[in-house]
Amino acid sequence: MNNDWNVRLYDSKLRFVSEFGKAVVSLLHPKAGEKILDLGCGTGDLSFEISKSGALVVGIDLSNSMIQEARVKYPNLQFKVENGEEFRTEEKFDAVFSNAALHWMKRASNVIESVWLALKPGGRFVAEFGGKGNVELVIKGLEYALNEFGITAAERNPWYYPSIGEYASLLEKQGFRVTYAHHFDRPTPLEDGERGLDHWINAFAGHFLHGLNDSERLHVIQMVKETTRSHLFRDGQWFADYKRLRIVAVKN
Ligand code: BEZ
Repeated sequence: MNNDWNVRLYDSKLRFVSEFGKAVVSLLHPKAGEKILDLGCGTGDLSFEISKSGALVVGIDLSNSMIQEARVKYPNLQFKVENGEEFRTEEKFDAVFSNAALHWMKRASNVIESVWLALKPGGRFVAEFGGKGNVELVIKGLEYALNEFGITAAERNPWYYPSIGEYASLLEKQGFRVTYAHHFDRPTPLEDGERGLDHWINAFAGHFLHGLNDSERLHVIQMVKETTRSHLFRDGQWFADYKRLRIVAVKN
């Protein structure tokens, strides 16, 4: 994750991030005494969820503000500021877990190498993140709106959304055995009625709006809403067109 998060917005209006992540914790199936690394832990909600099993969890995230908040919320857990694309750990883990974070890390082979080195032999990597086509309509809306300002949105896109084939190949190249992979649609309701997509864009899509003043930002968001409304707004609520990639891979 980047280093400049609006922690309050993330924890209030965007609670779904960790709510959906609970299914990924079930896939991880943590056990008492296991050492588990939560990669891109945000404010620590899923680290806490994993720790309920009795596993010993270390949460890492690139964002200082997220890690500070995680330490306040869960003082009994261990959290560190680390870059997912280049971290190294002294201790080895039984599992590395990651929810809704890997799509922020464009140097995917570096992440996979770091995960590999952090795992014990036989350790597992369990992750969910945005897959190919994730938030495609929102991105197209941003491209269209930013064009008016002479901005090429594709050059500002901070996300990595691979297909199963692409990501499984990277994992296998590192030596992992991919035991599970699923790429599926998850239209995701955004809280707060008409303002739901505004919150999402303000929280997550700041890279695209860099250099615009407040009224230009509002104009862009309004245009994105106009171009996507017929697909993404129904029954008084916005839905983000999420497509998730879930994987389990084992270090044999
Ligand atoms: C996602 O979870 O798919 C996501 C979150 C923030 C920005 C982009 C994608």
